[in-house]
Amino acid sequence: MTLGSSIESTRPPAGSASASESSIAETLVSSDELRRRVAEMGREISDDYAGRDLLMVGVLKGAVVFLADLMRHLSVPCEIDFIAVSSYGSRTDSSGVVRVLKDLEASIEGRHVLIVEDIVESGLTLQYLMRNLRARGSSSLEACALLAKPGRLRVELDLRYVGFHIRDRFAVGYGLDHAQRFRNLGYVAALDVA
Ligand code: IMP
Ligand code: MG
Repeated sequence: MTLGSSIESTRPPAGSASASESSIAETLVSSDELRRRVAEMGREISDDYAGRDLLMVGVLKGAVVFLADLMRHLSVPCEIDFIAVSSYGSRTDSSGVVRVLKDLEASIEGRHVLIVEDIVESGLTLQYLMRNLRARGSSSLEACALLAKPGRLRVELDLRYVGFHIRDRFAVGYGLDHAQRFRNLGYVAALDVA
């Protein structure tokens, strides 16, 4: 992926509007597009990991819906585990310091690990996660994100699988939230903040 120049966030400013004051705007990725692409990604990952056991690490909570659909398109033996991280304070903070709120249940030493993320914006969260997990001695470590906003990327990231590159809008649905709402939408939509 290419390095973006902009450091502003597309995220609604904290405390600007509650979820109930926000409304769903245009569709960014339809449910049909999601179904097709997630199946395709499952086939690609299955080919790449043929002959290996895969450990998928879902990043809570946003990646839950994507991971649940993706794993049903895998033909390689796979296990799942989850990690939850806090987002770093200010969105213009470039430190990329992320706190682990809930760690993995099991050791990943010697495992083939695929991090599954909902969306990559600056890339700081995923960069932190990759560094953190790499230090734990996995046999291999790759990352997969359903969505990416290429224009927002601030770090060099080795992102092996990307579902869709989307416009610079705050996205909700299919696991992605605003103030914990809208995760249950069957498609990805832009959010209009009141
Ligand atoms: P990054 O560290 O800037 O790449 O941000 C990644 C995290 O921020 C993701 O795991 C999401 O939880 C959240 N995020 C970034 N952009 C959006 C968005 O458009 N909608 C919902 N969550 C987002
Ligand atoms: Mg997330």
